Amino acid sequence: MYLTHLSLTNFRNFARLDLDVPRRAVLLVGSNAQGKTSILEAVYYLATFSSFQTHNDRQLVNFFAAANPSSMAVTRIVSDFHNHTGAHRLEVRIILEPVGPQNGQRTRKEILLDGIKRTAGEVIGTFNAALYIPQMSYVLEGGPEERRRLLNLTLAQVIPGYARLLSAYQKALEQRNALLKLLSERGGDASQLDFWDASLAENGAQLILWRIQAIQELERLAKRAHLALTRGKEVLRLKYLPAFDPIHPEGQLPLNMDVDIDRTSCHLADIQKGFLEALRRLRSEEIQRGLTTIGPHRDDLRFLAGKVDLGHYGSRGQIRTTLLSLKLAEVAWMKEKTGQWPVVLLDEVMAELDAERRTNLLTALSGPEQALLTTTDEHFFEADFVRQSTLWRVRQGAVELTGT
Ligand SMILES: Nc1ncnc2c1ncn2[C@@H]1O[C@H](COP(=O)(O)OP(=O)(O)OP(=O)(O)O)[C@@H](O)[C@H]1O
Ligand SMILES: [Mg+2]
Repeated sequence: MYLTHLSLTNFRNFARLDLDVPRRAVLLVGSNAQGKTSILEAVYYLATFSSFQTHNDRQLVNFFAAANPSSMAVTRIVSDFHNHTGAHRLEVRIILEPVGPQNGQRTRKEILLDGIKRTAGEVIGTFNAALYIPQMSYVLEGGPEERRRLLNLTLAQVIPGYARLLSAYQKALEQRNALLKLLSERGGDASQLDFWDASLAENGAQLILWRIQAIQELERLAKRAHLALTRGKEVLRLKYLPAFDPIHPEGQLPLNMDVDIDRTSCHLADIQKGFLEALRRLRSEEIQRGLTTIGPHRDDLRFLAGKVDLGHYGSRGQIRTTLLSLKLAEVAWMKEKTGQWPVVLLDEVMAELDAERRTNLLTALSGPEQALLTTTDEHFFEADFVRQSTLWRVRQGAVELTGT
């Protein structure tokens, strides 16, 4: 799929931007702090309805537009795009509005697909994008929640129903945790947990199964991309560590990381049954702790080069290359599953790679229909690639189109 037009209003440092987007690679060139990453952020927002730079949508609203706390400010990201069903228009509005003299402002989000208001869960998957930013090394080196977030954002774009189920799981989890806390503080009838146990096991089992399948498929593609990027020097492995492991439902200690565990033959009904039994077994312990201790909300995913866990021992270059392999795998996976290429967004990707890896990356980019790449200097790219791309010069919240 590809964008044909992008329009921003009061988004970050863009008071107003209106651009026709060509169906090819676009190089966004500019000095620091001009707005290059912000444009990628806006496009990724259309795919995931969240920002990769902040959890607080308010930060996306242009400072100057938001300066007066007693008046309303509206940020708009509007795109015309093509997917396999034809041409569509997707609009996101982030509305900052006063709540009363003393109460400051609140932010509200509206999503419109072809002019009709929709929820994020309904729209996700209509427009897909895959994103690489160098700061994403936190995905490997940070806590497991970063890896779960990445998994969720990727899977939600591809698997119909994933976003809805994840949200149902999270609601059940919140309710269950609140009840566990209540039982732990005040006591009471523990059978009140039955309903939430069943809901958690039902939604959780499906999430686990989807993750098992997706991670196995992503590993195959990431391994291939990584071998190409490193010219066969490194074998990348993705290890899913489910907090409730259907292969070890009794919660035995995980096997050595070296051992590859194939969970793809697990069946949904068995996972659900095992998960429910584990919740029952852990019930008194969880009441004591006031917390749900197993389930997809505690899953992890590790990245290994051979036997080495890159999250702990990866060099800077190894981590960047692994991320890139993962991103290329994500792009290929989206294409495999949906039949459509996502729009590829790569922030400062060339500055990170040695000459050989740059060439290999550009080869990998020949598939997708549209890619937006930022750089401070187009000379990081091969002359041929630059010739085949469209160059946009980004300066102080404006874009100049060059003739290239
Ligand atoms: N809500 C906002 N309102 C106005 N300006 C903002 C807002 N949020 C960020 N900015 C500013 O927007 C500018 C552009 O940021 P952006 O990250 O897009 O730059 P960049 O071109 O990618 O730079 P770099 O090469 O350093 O990565 C920065 O100066 C930043 O301070
Ligand atoms: Mg930037």
